[in-house]
Amino acid sequence: MTQPRTLLALNWKMNKTPTEAREWARELASRYTRSAAELAVLAPAIDLPGLKELLPAGVDVGGQDVSAHAAGAYTGEISAAMLRDVHATYVIVGHSERREYHLETDAVVAAKARQAQAHGLTPIVCVGERLDVRERGEHVRFTLDQLRASTEGVQANLVVAYEPVWAIGTGRTATADDAEEMAAALRGALAGLYGPEAAALRVLYGGSVKPDNIAALCAQPNVNGALVGGASLQVDDVLALAHALS
Ligand code: PGA
Repeated sequence: MTQPRTLLALNWKMNKTPTEAREWARELASRYTRSAAELAVLAPAIDLPGLKELLPAGVDVGGQDVSAHAAGAYTGEISAAMLRDVHATYVIVGHSERREYHLETDAVVAAKARQAQAHGLTPIVCVGERLDVRERGEHVRFTLDQLRASTEGVQANLVVAYEPVWAIGTGRTATADDAEEMAAALRGALAGLYGPEAAALRVLYGGSVKPDNIAALCAQPNVNGALVGGASLQVDDVLALAHALS
């Protein structure tokens, strides 16, 4: 079975106005040469219109969240159809910041992933343990339970991102061995859920990924790319990340 293509998913979080996003895309387009990894820019929804056209050919765009509902009286929400209309191909669901600050449950995350799929988007389903769970040695069981509950009714067209909460934005990265331990366990769970189709699914690592650690993380047999926050904001860093994967 050939390995799925490495995915470098850039999570801008709540950074960049539409003007700044367009400047970033123009700069990337002027400096980027196609990398071995697939690149996806996961931008605030308001940045997405027109962004795809400014980015280099082959670079995808996506959202950072999506409503669990198709349409209607849900003030402030963005639907999967709206994201599709502005050329999104991916959307993050269940990022730990959404789970923590917006109290999103696994059931809500699964409903969002189903909505995304119903409109042709590939959900990037985030899972990962807090530090106390890891210190108790329960990180694998916790994260696999989270995966199963967050993919209830979800088809075999998804990306899974393992993001240990203690590594996000902290400068503290999981070791390559930690990432591989969990990625292998997640792949096993995906095989249980989806059978042979699971071999083609990508499992990403996220949490303080930088140009100097991405190669070791993505060299692990079950790690098929990275979800990058802080190091996604500067074009220099993104070029260095892509270069490290070439
Ligand atoms: P970080 O964020 O790279 O800044 O740790 C990763 C993420 O939250 O997706």
